Amino acid sequence: MNQPEISYQYYTEKYRPQYHFTPEVNWMNDPNGMVFYEGEYHLFYQYHPNGTTWGPMHWGHAVSKDLVHWEHLPIGLEPDENGMIFSGSAVVDRNDTSGFFNGQSGLVAIFTHADTYPNSERPRQRQSIAYSHDQGRSWKKYEGNPVLSDEEITDFRDPKVFWHKETNRWIMVIAAGQSVRFYTSSNLIDWEFASEFGEEHGSHQGVWECPDLFELSIDGDHRKKKWVLFLSIGDDPSFEEGSRTQYFIGDFDGKTFTNLNSPDKTLWVDRGRDNYAGVSWSDLPVDDHRRIYLGWMSNWRYANVTPTKEWRSSMTIPRSLSLASTNVGLRLRQSPVKELESIRQESIILKKKVIKENENLLKELKSNTFEIIAEFEVGNIDEFGIKVCQSENEETTIGYNVETKKMFIDRKMSGDVNFHKSFAGKHEAELEPKGNKIKFHLFVDCSSVEVFGNDGELVMTDLIFPDSSSNKLTLYSIGGEVNLNSLEFYMLKSTWEYSR
Ligand code: FRU
Repeated sequence: MNQPEISYQYYTEKYRPQYHFTPEVNWMNDPNGMVFYEGEYHLFYQYHPNGTTWGPMHWGHAVSKDLVHWEHLPIGLEPDENGMIFSGSAVVDRNDTSGFFNGQSGLVAIFTHADTYPNSERPRQRQSIAYSHDQGRSWKKYEGNPVLSDEEITDFRDPKVFWHKETNRWIMVIAAGQSVRFYTSSNLIDWEFASEFGEEHGSHQGVWECPDLFELSIDGDHRKKKWVLFLSIGDDPSFEEGSRTQYFIGDFDGKTFTNLNSPDKTLWVDRGRDNYAGVSWSDLPVDDHRRIYLGWMSNWRYANVTPTKEWRSSMTIPRSLSLASTNVGLRLRQSPVKELESIRQESIILKKKVIKENENLLKELKSNTFEIIAEFEVGNIDEFGIKVCQSENEETTIGYNVETKKMFIDRKMSGDVNFHKSFAGKHEAELEPKGNKIKFHLFVDCSSVEVFGNDGELVMTDLIFPDSSSNKLTLYSIGGEVNLNSLEFYMLKSTWEYSR
């Protein structure tokens, strides 16, 4: 087993993100059990404590008071006689509906136990619960586990549970083959089937995993809401994108989800390659109207072979979700949580500049951990954008092609790209200028790029593995000049300090 680095080298290894969540050592995948309770955001995660590739799954655990600085805690849940601990969720049982808390409140985790059927190789996935009396520091598995099983479905996993006040019931949404199922419960122990959704809806280019269902406000108006269903689809070698996450918008009455869009419409959460299994935090304070989520910043296509040594995988930055009306209907919007502003350090502000070919307004800068907010005026040119993590041999380009109206991340020359044949590439998607403007809100953190185009209308998340000496930046234009209305650059501070 890998041991944590000692203090003065803490979180300084090659490619180590400085303000994203990563485990100290070893393998991580999906975020799990995300819940806010008594002043703390909990983040559990799929964790293999004995290696840097996927293996017997545990729930790793960390807490944060601000979504930015995380404290690592001992493993939350370990495999037992019912199998490994796959993905799932956690809720605050405020009124002790479960009877686990003597009339008080406490945390209940709902997760998938994964093993195989007796004397068989056939995978068996059953749902179990555990509860905690001490703010998630220790967990007791319910003695009646599993609480929900179905022999007919092989892929039956990743329960996400929430309290539905209109029907006074707990709702579970869970992946079941090529659909999701909804179950209801009054006590988190006894579950009743309510309905199924998904056959013939959206994308089925992979196994359905990690659903989440929540309500979002429309255009910032808390009185107007719709339900959003997040649904991740696993890697299938016949499709070039690998694993990714789609979403549906609709209505939910406590039993049935109705898709607002036509069944053949597929909506994607992120058009980069590395944002998977994202789910949202439960039980945010009542006066915080946000719905915040983060995803696993990797792709099953190559997740096991990315070139890090001590640990493997990172989460995305936490993002706040909303819905916006557009001329093609309601669409998801994502924005980085405002708490991230607390790690801004040195800044540079540019206003009303002209980006000329072969002249770089950022030539004085060097950084691998920064944030940029840049607004461009789309003119009659071919392309413009920002190159980051740049040296003579390496660069990652975040750009906009004026003719195709596509924003892109090009990581073909981003650094180490040879560990998997699907890694190098250019990822692009359409983004309509808004009043002739294109805005990039960009986060770079040693081995990742996250771009929010036009206030989170289009989001792209990509891993990169540049050398740490590739730390230059270039503002560029091709085929003419482009007007830069404004640019804010912030160096971002590391959020990791050795503290034991
Ligand atoms: C998604 C997933 C889940 C499963 C977990 C296992 O990435 O495949 O469906 O619960 O990972 O680690």
